[in-house]
Amino acid sequence: MKFPTKAIHVGQIPDAGTGAIIPPIYMTSTYLQEAPDKHKGYDYTRAGNPNFTNLEQTLAVLEEASYATVCSSGIGAITGLISNLKQGDKVVAGNDLYGGTFRLFDQVFKNFGLSVRVINTQNLDEVEMALQEQPKMIFLESPSNPLLRISDIGAISKLARKYGVLSIVDNTFATPFFQNPLLLGADVVIHSTTKYIGGHSDIVGGVAITNNKDIKEKIDFMRKSMGLNPSPFDTWLISRGIKTLALRMERHAESALKIAAFLEAHPKVRKVFYPGLESHPQHALAKKQMTGFGGIVSVELDLNMEQTKKLISSFRLFSLAESLGGVESLVDHPASMTHASIPKEEREKNGLSDGLVRFSVGIEDVDDLIEDIGNQLVNS
Ligand SMILES: Cc1ncc(COP(=O)(O)O)c(C=O)c1O
Repeated sequence: MKFPTKAIHVGQIPDAGTGAIIPPIYMTSTYLQEAPDKHKGYDYTRAGNPNFTNLEQTLAVLEEASYATVCSSGIGAITGLISNLKQGDKVVAGNDLYGGTFRLFDQVFKNFGLSVRVINTQNLDEVEMALQEQPKMIFLESPSNPLLRISDIGAISKLARKYGVLSIVDNTFATPFFQNPLLLGADVVIHSTTKYIGGHSDIVGGVAITNNKDIKEKIDFMRKSMGLNPSPFDTWLISRGIKTLALRMERHAESALKIAAFLEAHPKVRKVFYPGLESHPQHALAKKQMTGFGGIVSVELDLNMEQTKKLISSFRLFSLAESLGGVESLVDHPASMTHASIPKEEREKNGLSDGLVRFSVGIEDVDDLIEDIGNQLVNS
């Protein structure tokens, strides 16, 4: 079966009792037991629910994997994974991570004795040097948020294996439609399902996906022990959204490329970050490990902070909002919104300037979107 067929049919068995084509929402906290500990596989929704299982089956298959654990959010899934580390353990993290992920490492897990070293994962020598210090995990995003940097997932996973380090890839931007990190050698894939996988900006969710049964069981244990579970309704909505993932991703990427090309030719734009552009420094690598380049385009404008802030509040179709990956277009100012939790000095060291704007290109008509950007840029 091909991707769009799997996205529609896997984990979506019609209800045996009624014939309902769509599995129902199991809004229950607990389950009837025939005798103590004798039940049908579920005992309490913090530990498991049929809607979680359905979505886990779909997500595992779409990432070409054996196991998935759905969580309350992307950050919940990362928490479930990281919580298995111990005081004194080291983590190596990519230099361009979603601000909330960096905050989780830097302001939460550090307090429990975990040390985090941020490195440039585009530089394989730097990666190898960091791995020689025997961290437990290397965690990266590719493409990264918000600078769309590409890391060589295959080469990094191979190095990680050589040094006995677990490799984790946050695949939120690419989605399994455009990239399968486990097939490239990574040990665990993370998604914020809040984004493209859900696709409609109406839920918050996350997932950790792996072929390693031991890791799956450990994340399940943390979900149950730390209360990282999603709600049955949210997982049902994600299962609903995922059916159109292939169609949506095709449109997001097609429009994003047109918008990136439009912006690249615009006099008020200093630099465009989109891995589908030939000018992107890792375009060749992106082409090698991805089958498409996604729907996020970031730009550095030739505008000062005040002009940038005025511009991004003025679009008609790009709503100024956090998040990304929904059918509707959004615009974000990373320095003051999604990445504000990263200290300014650290942000600027990693190339994330105050003039950076991130567009999440929706699936509206692309001519309307280009007209909106063009009109407001003229007025800026
Ligand atoms: C790349 C990436 N990973 C993880 C997250 C966190 O996901 P959530 O907001 O679902 O907790 C985000 C959120 O923006 C993200 O962009």
